[in-house]
Amino acid sequence: MKRKIAVIPGDGIGPDVIREGIKVLSAAADATPGLGLEFVEFPYGAEHYLKTKELVPEEGLKKLSKMDAIYLGALGDPRVPTSVLEQGILLKLRFYFDQYINLRPIKLYPGASCPLRGKGPEHVNFYVVRENTEDFYVAIGGRAKGKSKAKLEVIRSIYAVKFGLNIDVDRDEIAYQIGVISRKGTERAIRYAFELARRKSKKRVTSVDKANVLTHVYSLWREVFERVAKDYPEIETEFAFVDAVAMWFVKNPEWYQVVVTPNMFGDIITDLGAMIQGGLGLAPGGNINPEGVSMFEPIHGSAPRHAGKNRANPLATILAGQMMLEHLGEQEAADRVERAVIDVLKEGKVRTYDLGGKSGTSDVGDAVAARVKEID
Ligand code: IPM
Ligand code: MN
Repeated sequence: MKRKIAVIPGDGIGPDVIREGIKVLSAAADATPGLGLEFVEFPYGAEHYLKTKELVPEEGLKKLSKMDAIYLGALGDPRVPTSVLEQGILLKLRFYFDQYINLRPIKLYPGASCPLRGKGPEHVNFYVVRENTEDFYVAIGGRAKGKSKAKLEVIRSIYAVKFGLNIDVDRDEIAYQIGVISRKGTERAIRYAFELARRKSKKRVTSVDKANVLTHVYSLWREVFERVAKDYPEIETEFAFVDAVAMWFVKNPEWYQVVVTPNMFGDIITDLGAMIQGGLGLAPGGNINPEGVSMFEPIHGSAPRHAGKNRANPLATILAGQMMLEHLGEQEAADRVERAVIDVLKEGKVRTYDLGGKSGTSDVGDAVAARVKEID
């Protein structure tokens, strides 16, 4: 089948790694009878923003919505104030396309090295399902001082009544941000996690929250988890607090099979996950709307220092491409890519600096693409 893939190389090392991703995906398409991939490039990112003041225009969103998937490099540039590109492009796309799942496999491949003593690929192989549109990412909040007296007055009375604290409304400055989760948003994320467990023959789903402190939002989360779990009686369940999980990922990663968690904790624990799967250079993610346009990206940032130097590890991006193929139902091509990555890692000859090698970004892409074609 012919698939149209939107490509947003983005900033920093984004273009470097996405080039290799396209190289490998094209090789996989060549090797898979009946699969055609058409890549359509979109310019969004720092350079485009600085030139035009445009982040993602309405017309761009319309074009993107006609694509089968989006393949994203990285966003972020020191010339643009922090949060402008992240909010205006990355989060904008996640929200606009209602990509309510952020799926992040934490899989340690043979040939990649794990910083945990005594742990190997048989110990690190699970999924984090991060809810991707709610929680503390809803951008509701504000700051108040002196002039916005009315706002401050409300906050002052909350502080006074609830905590017995006194804010001086004339002098003090405050900031607040609110996390919001909905029953619907929570349910669809949790259900996705259980369905994933079924599909991947995983036996346990762990719900990660902080319901002992953030009682309002995460009591709803827990209630929904318990209800949804009833539809999957063969799957074991448990609740864990996020601080404890940060410890257990390091101590006993083999315990985890599928983890489902609200947006912000998911953001944090998947960076930890990336480290135990061999580094950020190996960690892919998918922003998924099962009924719409999904977007696949490495979970690392734009690493501006390494931009354009043929230095960055493209494997996370290549693996994001593998997830994209799987998502599009192209399992055979996806398996080819994954096996090629494993073979190249195992062989150990071609690796970038982060994995202790001396190869360039394009050498890794070349090696994986060549291997993709050899696999039968
Ligand atoms: C990620 C990133 C983003 C997030 C940032 C860049 C907005 O850290 O994809 O994990 O917080 O989701
Ligand atoms: Mn992150």
